[in-house]
Amino acid sequence: MFNILEALPPDPILGLTTEYKADPRNIKIDLGVGVYKDEVGHTPVMAAIKAAEKALFDAEDSKSYIAQVGVEAFNAGILGLVLGSDHAALREKRATAVMTPGGTGALRLGGELIVRMNPKATIWVGDPTWANHIPVLQGAGLKLVTYPYYDKATSSIRFDEMLAALEKAESGDAVLLHGCCHNPCGADLSQEQWQALAHLMLRKELLPFVDLAYQGFGEGLDEDAYGIRLLAEQLPDVLVASSCSKNFGLYRERTGSVICIAQSPEKAAAGQSHVAHIARAIYSMPPAHGGFLAGMVLSDAQLRADWVAELATMRNRMNDLRSLFVRKMAEKDSPVDFGFIEKQFGMFSFLGISPEQIKRLKEEFAIYIVGSSRINVAGISESGIDYLTDSLVKVLKS
Ligand code: LMR
Repeated sequence: MFNILEALPPDPILGLTTEYKADPRNIKIDLGVGVYKDEVGHTPVMAAIKAAEKALFDAEDSKSYIAQVGVEAFNAGILGLVLGSDHAALREKRATAVMTPGGTGALRLGGELIVRMNPKATIWVGDPTWANHIPVLQGAGLKLVTYPYYDKATSSIRFDEMLAALEKAESGDAVLLHGCCHNPCGADLSQEQWQALAHLMLRKELLPFVDLAYQGFGEGLDEDAYGIRLLAEQLPDVLVASSCSKNFGLYRERTGSVICIAQSPEKAAAGQSHVAHIARAIYSMPPAHGGFLAGMVLSDAQLRADWVAELATMRNRMNDLRSLFVRKMAEKDSPVDFGFIEKQFGMFSFLGISPEQIKRLKEEFAIYIVGSSRINVAGISESGIDYLTDSLVKVLKS
């Protein structure tokens, strides 16, 4: 049987890390995969997570199965984190969570849930979006249609075109939205745009499916959840895929959550039971470790305060690196004005350069960026900024 298979090319994002690691050059810069890095290029275990891990090591006395929906403290903590502890949906017990293997697992389960609720549903997906959204949602059985989101030429959101496209959606369709820190373009909706979108979605009876993979990386934990909280106030049903990879640094532990916000506690519980049922037929139940850790951090006042503070340091560092990059490029007389990068949020922005220029950055300067020209801002360092900006200016000028 295997004779019929041809090996596939590497994943466009994850494959870049392999290439970068194999590059023998002494000076090299990895702006590819979306992982947070410190000044020396290390992705640290956050201090609160390490402390929780030590406590868990002593306290855990069994490796027996956990509940199908995951760890209780995690689910309660994530609901509060995403919605804010005083949100009406929480007070009225109309929100449920199921722990998942990462945000990607949550996207797949959420996609399958949409198909169960409406087998004819189309999901509207922004152009551009995270490359992996497409196979994950198609794999769930959804039909995908794109709406315009970002214009690289003007570095701005195509909001009017986005609304015009969504006017064509049918009642019962789903719309995939990035809660904050858009991956790949870094351009987030303003509060006014979220309000206009909520209005349209309510009128057209569309289901928002919000991917929240970077809460706390943009402007703050509450600020980054503005859109989700608004949708959950104004629309009858909201589906969320949330990830702890980035904001808790739990990448390899695969920790995420599908959240169903419904019109009644019974319907939210029904959503939860279906998500758990879908998961049972794929992997039975989620891995426990990351959920235990995030649950401990969220439910312990001291650990939570430590985590919030460390997250703020990471966020400030990324925002400072954005400013540093923009300043250096201007000082070096860049032929392109990169000022827009300072106005964007999270880990990613597009440089808007050509595939040929991306190739030259890699081959001549060992600077690795994704083929769409997406950079991971957290991969920039103060010590490497001159090498990066000098190299980029050379490529842009020749
Ligand atoms: C990214 O976009 O680089 C991250 O979300 C990692 C991934 O799995 O692609």
